[in-house]
Amino acid sequence: MEISDRLKNMPPHFFSKLVKSVEAAMAEGRDIINLGRGNPDQPTPKHIIEALQEAVEDPLTHGYAAFRGTTELKEAVGVFYKREYNVDINPETEVAILFGTKTGLVELPLALMNAGDLLLLPDPGYPDYLSGVSLADIKYNLMPLLAENNFLPDYAALSNEQKEQAKLMYLNYPSNPTSATASIPFFDETVAFAKTSNIAIMHDFAYGAIGFDGKKPVSFLQADGAKDVGIEMYTFSKTYNMAGWRIGFAVGNAEIIEAINTLQDHLFINPFPAVQRAAAVALTSSQDCVENLVSLYESRRNVLISECKRIGWDVEAPPASFFAWLPVPKEYSSESFADLLLSKADVAVAPGNGFGSYGEGYIRVGLLEDENRLKEAVARIEKLNLF
Ligand SMILES: Cc1ncc(COP(=O)(O)O)c(C=O)c1O
Repeated sequence: MEISDRLKNMPPHFFSKLVKSVEAAMAEGRDIINLGRGNPDQPTPKHIIEALQEAVEDPLTHGYAAFRGTTELKEAVGVFYKREYNVDINPETEVAILFGTKTGLVELPLALMNAGDLLLLPDPGYPDYLSGVSLADIKYNLMPLLAENNFLPDYAALSNEQKEQAKLMYLNYPSNPTSATASIPFFDETVAFAKTSNIAIMHDFAYGAIGFDGKKPVSFLQADGAKDVGIEMYTFSKTYNMAGWRIGFAVGNAEIIEAINTLQDHLFINPFPAVQRAAAVALTSSQDCVENLVSLYESRRNVLISECKRIGWDVEAPPASFFAWLPVPKEYSSESFADLLLSKADVAVAPGNGFGSYGEGYIRVGLLEDENRLKEAVARIEKLNLF
């Protein structure tokens, strides 16, 4: 059977090689400390699980879900954005419910772009952005994110051709993989740039809840005029440890939301109503669980960074997200260093070049193991006498 060119052109999954090597090492019985993953290690908070259990008992949740999401969940999104970011949202016209944000960001080019249109993407960035490029048969250009620019794109460096041709831009702060955060002035600049260049913006706010040192990451929608030019995508996966539940939402510009909803009307019925009900509870009930989760990641970050510094590794503390973006020693590439750590220290990390060529020179380390395992990982690296 021939498969479509569209599928043949899907980007290879860079990290499948890493997953295979880690699995092979574990199959040999080695105790691998896997810091390469992005899967939250904590369970979903109890009150959200209980809300799901209760909802499952209600036969009203057993039929097909309402097209375009339940009113209850969309209204909860409105309450959440007002409470957390002081942003007013119209639940009916400015919210689309998603099967997780991966689905949303892969389907967005299909909803907004024609074959050959140009999408601007961050480099380094979340690899799955490229899946949407292949499915919609569009072109993409990468915007370098450099340490000297605090890992923010430099709009002045884009060519006139790029500005004329680009129809859509993806941004992601706090960033996977760099952990960098954005500011309202940067988002103001983004709105102005989007207006003059007529480019729509999708801000991926996956790590929006996870900010350290008392600094809460800002929402793109807090910038004046943001809703004129774009949307934000928000997932329950990280804030509430609900990665397996497959639930998220897009919020913002009504025309873009309408386009997503129209595409989804054709692709699927909405997520299980009981999941939507529990998701609404997550957004509207006490946020103590989120505060506790952020403190847990912050303590792990502190342990990891102080241990790295203790062995002489010159690293910077991530301000947000659950990743640390660490420079590799000069004599190594991202991949050769990651290979060395796996083969000689039984520590798995994600090589930075897997997120784009501007990720070369870094590795991404997840804060998804407990403090003792993080300490142990650095102690094993110390024995290699690299620093
Ligand atoms: C930057 C970023 N965006 C989106 C996602 C997808 O999240 P989900 O599909 O679980 O909502 C991830 C998951 O790792 C991510 O790191």
